[in-house]
Amino acid sequence: MEQKKKKIVVFTGAGVSADSGIATFRDSDGLWVNYRIEDVCTPEALVRNRAQVVEFYNLRRRESLTKKPNDGHLAIASMEEWADVEVVTQNVDNLHEQAGSSRVTHLHGELMKLRSERNPDLIYDINGWEQKLDARAEDGALLRPHIVFFGESVPMFDTACKIVASADILIVVGTSLAVYPAASLVYYVRDRQVPIYLVDPGNPDTAMIRNPLYHIKERGAVGVPQLVAQLRDELTK
Ligand code: APR
Repeated sequence: MEQKKKKIVVFTGAGVSADSGIATFRDSDGLWVNYRIEDVCTPEALVRNRAQVVEFYNLRRRESLTKKPNDGHLAIASMEEWADVEVVTQNVDNLHEQAGSSRVTHLHGELMKLRSERNPDLIYDINGWEQKLDARAEDGALLRPHIVFFGESVPMFDTACKIVASADILIVVGTSLAVYPAASLVYYVRDRQVPIYLVDPGNPDTAMIRNPLYHIKERGAVGVPQLVAQLRDELTK
């Protein structure tokens, strides 16, 4: 009889895309070193500095169009051959999808989408990189980036909690675990036995994690393929 596939949930942050050439937020070369969050990533900024906010995300979008998935993204997607895999990402790029991951939940929105400022359910794919300042949704409201700004609620959080709670194994890649509620997802594992593998060259805030924790101190493009090979050996023997 065929054994039921293990459920592997992969929770990623900016670090998983760092090896694709996309800057993280809080490293020394990070985005929040060069920009102030309150200027470009809050609902107040969208009202006060609309042009600056739209320009900021146009730049991010233009940059992301030139980026390709790295070996970390590809290794995550490859696990679908032998495990039941879901990805929860804080990233707004689409590199997991480009790598072939079929189930990706975006906690903080998606760069390649815009939505109505009035109706959050009116969401549109954007063609190319440029959001025109005066572009409107079909309800007549101005469009805005489909991004969860600081100070806004995280509509996909409950869905993400359920996904994490379904994990037999949780893999966390490239997140400082500094931004809530996203960082608290690691506490939604089903029980204390679920192993948590962390791939990050830095030191994310894991002080409160009580589950078995294995920190692979490598960058994503190196550490994730290593971990995936190890898990494949263990789970497909
Ligand atoms: N491979 C893997 N991890 C890396 C790499 C790499 N090559 N380079 C850096 N990292 C790690 C850092 O050590 C750090 O732990 O990636 C993490 C990046 O942390 P942050 O910049 O804080 O990014 P993230 O945790 O995704 O930020 C969360 O903050 O501003 C918001 O909405 C934004 O989703 C984002 C949220």
